[in-house]
Formats: sequence, structure tokens, C-alpha cells
Amino acid sequence: MKKMILFADPGIDDAIALLYALRQPSFDILAVVAEYGNTFRHYALSNSIYLLKEGGRSDIPVFTGAERPFTGEAPDVQPTIHGPYGLGDLQPFLLIDQPSENIDQLIPLIEQHAEELTIVTLGRLTTLATLFLLYPILMNRIKEFYLMGGAFSVPGNITPFAEANIYDDPAAAEIVVQQAANLTIIPLNVTNDVLYPPRFFTEMEAAGANPLIRRLAEFYQRFNNQENGTSTIPVHDLLTLVAFAEPDLFSYGLYHVEVITAAGLSRGMTVADLRPLSEQPAGPLPRIALDVNPTAVLQHVFHIFTTQPSDF
Ligand code: RIB
Ligand code: CA
Repeated sequence: MKKMILFADPGIDDAIALLYALRQPSFDILAVVAEYGNTFRHYALSNSIYLLKEGGRSDIPVFTGAERPFTGEAPDVQPTIHGPYGLGDLQPFLLIDQPSENIDQLIPLIEQHAEELTIVTLGRLTTLATLFLLYPILMNRIKEFYLMGGAFSVPGNITPFAEANIYDDPAAAEIVVQQAANLTIIPLNVTNDVLYPPRFFTEMEAAGANPLIRRLAEFYQRFNNQENGTSTIPVHDLLTLVAFAEPDLFSYGLYHVEVITAAGLSRGMTVADLRPLSEQPAGPLPRIALDVNPTAVLQHVFHIFTTQPSDF
């Protein structure tokens, strides 16, 4: 079993990813950390608790992460893409106005499992970077990290140059990419290559998947249709968990990475050093996913949610 702690900002694609994680038999989810990002922190927290209940795993603890980025800016939440509360047109089943600020209670859990633990992060990097600042020795004991974020020599999705998880807190992202040992990055280079048509979600529901997945996907499809004229959608965060479960569906390169932290047009841009490894600076070399087998991913996801085969 792969022991993991999930940092997320649900958010439609985070929500589908979390529901996948709960179905994935090889995962042992020790905790969820909910933070600002696609929506406000207290909605992300409510949504995480709701999704764990939906998946029959209310026993998994949820910790409250960051409320805003290191920049001090107000969270740039995305209600048009993710709905007023983060889960499309769903209303939260309970609304937490005053979250329990309990992130300190995550530390003993990390201490207990560090050497066999993977941290998967699907949102802004503020909480994770804070842990690296406060607990560098402990964080260096962690086995590995998977991170959804970045766009390497491809267009961004929040600015022409930057991907949203990196753009919203570039200083935090820079800390994580410089400090995290055994870091795998799942950037837009691959997440935009795995596109789900509407019939994927209706057929998955007909084959037994939780109807919530179709409902969430339809909200995002509507947005995508208005924005890009297509209802096929990427599900960025889901692909990151698929990479953790099935790394062989991807091909990778090892590169030194820098994040542009300065304000301006290139804020949040991720840059890979393409020189030979022997010429790269000292420090961790993240493994960047640069290619993926989309058909295999669709078939895998369909199977995990339904235990049925599919013709995708
Ligand atoms: O750029 C994609 C990322 O930004 C995903 O994590 C999605 O949830 C959004 O926050
Ligand atoms: Ca996310």
C-alpha cells in the first residue's frame, strides 16, 4: 500500500481526484490538507469533509492549510470554473465558518510515517512550503512528492506563461521545487493531453460510478464549452494521482527547475534547465512528466471508478 497525504483545494478536479484516491486500492490515505486556491479555505475544508463522507471514509483526518499566499494577496478564487463553493452547482452539506486551525496535528503523523510517505499536492504550494520552512529536517525524511503544477515551454492556463497552482504563490512553489527530494511534477504538458469527452462520465455513471463525478464534470464542461468551444475536459489533479498509482503510463525527464517569482508578465513561469545533467546546479532534480498515454489513462480511470472495462 502506498501511504499518502493529499494537499488539495477542492475544486472540481481536486474533488474527482479525491474520489479516485478513495477508490484506488493501492492507496492508504493518511490525511487530507485543505487550503485556499480554487475556492476559499473554509469551503475547501467543507468540501474535503463532504467528499470523504461521500467516499465512506470520514475516518480520514482533514487538516486546515493556508488561507492566503505568501504574497499577502487575497485568494484569487475561481467561482466561474469551480462554482460558488468549489463543487460546481452543489451546495456544501455543512458550511464551516471558523475552521479548526489544526495543522500542528499533522506533524506527528508525518513523523510517524516519513520514510514511507508520499505527499501529493494538487493546489497552491503555500502550506507545503511553510512546512519546509518550519520543519526542514522532518520534510527531508519524506520518501517522495507528487505535484500538479507548472507549464514547461507550453502556454499557461492563468496567464500566457504560468499555470495556476504556481502563479498564485510563486515564492512557495520555488521553495518546494528547490527543497523537495524525489519530486515528480505533473504539468500542463501532460494534463492537457488527457481529455475526457462528456460520454466518458455518463458511461461511467451507467457502469456504477458515483453520480457526483458526472455532476462535477458537467459543470466544468459547461465552462469549458463557453471558454474554448469544446466540452472535452482535462482533469488535471486526477492525472497526478494516476501518475502516482501508475507511473509507467508516463515518460519523464530530470531537470533543475526554477520558478519566476518576480511580479510581471512572467510571474509563476516554470523553467527547466535543459543542459546535460552533468552541467546542472547541485540540488534535487525534479522528475517532470512530459508525455503520457491518454488512452491507457482513460481506461484505467474508468476501471477504478467502476471495476468495469471500457472502450475509450
Ligand atoms: O492548473 C490546474 C490546477 O489549478 C488544478 O490543480 C486545478 O484544481 C486548479 O487549481
Ligand atoms: Ca487543484
